[in-house]
Amino acid sequence: MKKWMFLTGFLALASCLHAQLPTGTGSDSLYRPLIHFTPKTGWMNDPNGMVFYKGTYHLFYQHNPNASVWGPMHWGHATSSDLTNWKHQPIALYPDSLGTIFSGSAVVDEKNTSGLGTKENPPLVAIFTYHNQALADQQKKNFQSQGIAFSLDNGSTWEKYVKNPVIQNPGIPDFRDPKITWIENQQKWVMSLAVQDRIYFYGSKNLLQWEYLSQFGKTMGAHGGVWECPDLFPMNYENKTYWILLVNINPGGPNGGSATQYFVGDFNGREFKSITSEVKWLDFGPDEYAGVTWSNTGDRRIFIGWMSNWTYANVVPTETWRSAMTIPRELKLVKAKNEFFLCANPAEEVNDLAVDTVENLLTYKSPLRVQLMAEANTNISIVLYNSLKEKITLGYDKKLNEYYIDRTNSGKTSFNSEFAKKHNAPRISEAKQIRLDIWIDRTSVELFADDGLTNMTSIFFPNQLFDRIKVNGKWVKNRPPLFIPLKPNEFK
Ligand code: FRU
Repeated sequence: MKKWMFLTGFLALASCLHAQLPTGTGSDSLYRPLIHFTPKTGWMNDPNGMVFYKGTYHLFYQHNPNASVWGPMHWGHATSSDLTNWKHQPIALYPDSLGTIFSGSAVVDEKNTSGLGTKENPPLVAIFTYHNQALADQQKKNFQSQGIAFSLDNGSTWEKYVKNPVIQNPGIPDFRDPKITWIENQQKWVMSLAVQDRIYFYGSKNLLQWEYLSQFGKTMGAHGGVWECPDLFPMNYENKTYWILLVNINPGGPNGGSATQYFVGDFNGREFKSITSEVKWLDFGPDEYAGVTWSNTGDRRIFIGWMSNWTYANVVPTETWRSAMTIPRELKLVKAKNEFFLCANPAEEVNDLAVDTVENLLTYKSPLRVQLMAEANTNISIVLYNSLKEKITLGYDKKLNEYYIDRTNSGKTSFNSEFAKKHNAPRISEAKQIRLDIWIDRTSVELFADDGLTNMTSIFFPNQLFDRIKVNGKWVKNRPPLFIPLKPNEFK
């Protein structure tokens, strides 16, 4: 079986599992994160169509409202004015006769290039993949195509374009996840599309007619699985523009299963050329996937990922809902070891969740942020545990020069044999001091090391929530560990 057929087979299995699952127990409220977006009920995977418009961040997401496992995909919808507190909105896109609604993106068509709105009231345009399961079941190869929907009321309601699909399938089974970028100096739109283990680029003047431009990836990057959910955007470094291409991959991540790799390079409006020599990962942990960025945020690049892994996402021990998003993260292009890297740190808006700062803490209640500054010549460890002796240990291993998160004895792990593991990430920074910024929720930890140069995200399901903490390390003089209790964000 070819690697990229893996997903299709897996998803069919997920749909079968669906019928057997019970709906709802006490663990559902125990495990629901307090500072991470989750669907009210049902299944969620990839973040989709993220666009900022008139002061509102829109977050759409892959959603099965009828069960808490993957199934017929819709676009769920939530909005926020601060990336921190979220309001659930009605489902934005439902399946139709062309298929279910897979991942994609959304843009503000400011100049009304599509003619779907007016100059005075420009449309928001979403582009997504139609997945036609009936064609897939008939062993046809053309079961994925690209469709468009638009909104003339600031993203509240969406209408499908009557001439969908706008890109027909040329006979390739994995052909999905369009992400659109406006190329200012050429006054045109470019779509990045994941096609097996390559990215295809298409160009358009009006979002409706698309021309194939080029493809990227044959000899670059990781190829342990199918490429999915790309994102192409410019970033400045010392007054020069570079282009970043994010490419999600499943499986083939650095710690198994799904993960986000990226390339730094140049895009001339037709072709992407990478200047990255080795494979680069935006997050080395097991639980950040399908991450892409918001459109229309000016110079800021704000990223969010799905906080799970296809290896076990369908069977994690929650029942009425499944999966959370990561904390929104802001990306920056930096140089380290004479090479370009992307740093990702929590978007500054999320800092407003802080309610206090203390220097000593032995017991805690999630959510909690911990900031540490340590000398890089010793080991560092942070243990979160409970009275059942279940624990998560994370930290820095000096000998290996690696960060790690160990969830081997973290409570419920038997739902998948790959779950109970220790995961590692290389330290990229060569600075003498290590800075760790750790965001702890009831069932997740996000580790931002060296100002976001090496990051790891991991989820866990203890039988009793972790409420004790122990930190060990050689702290930088006059910089004791800081514990910052956080308030839960609002979900309406
Ligand atoms: C990535 C992905 C996408 C697809 C969607 C289906 O997680 O497999 O490629 O569009 O999920 O839900």
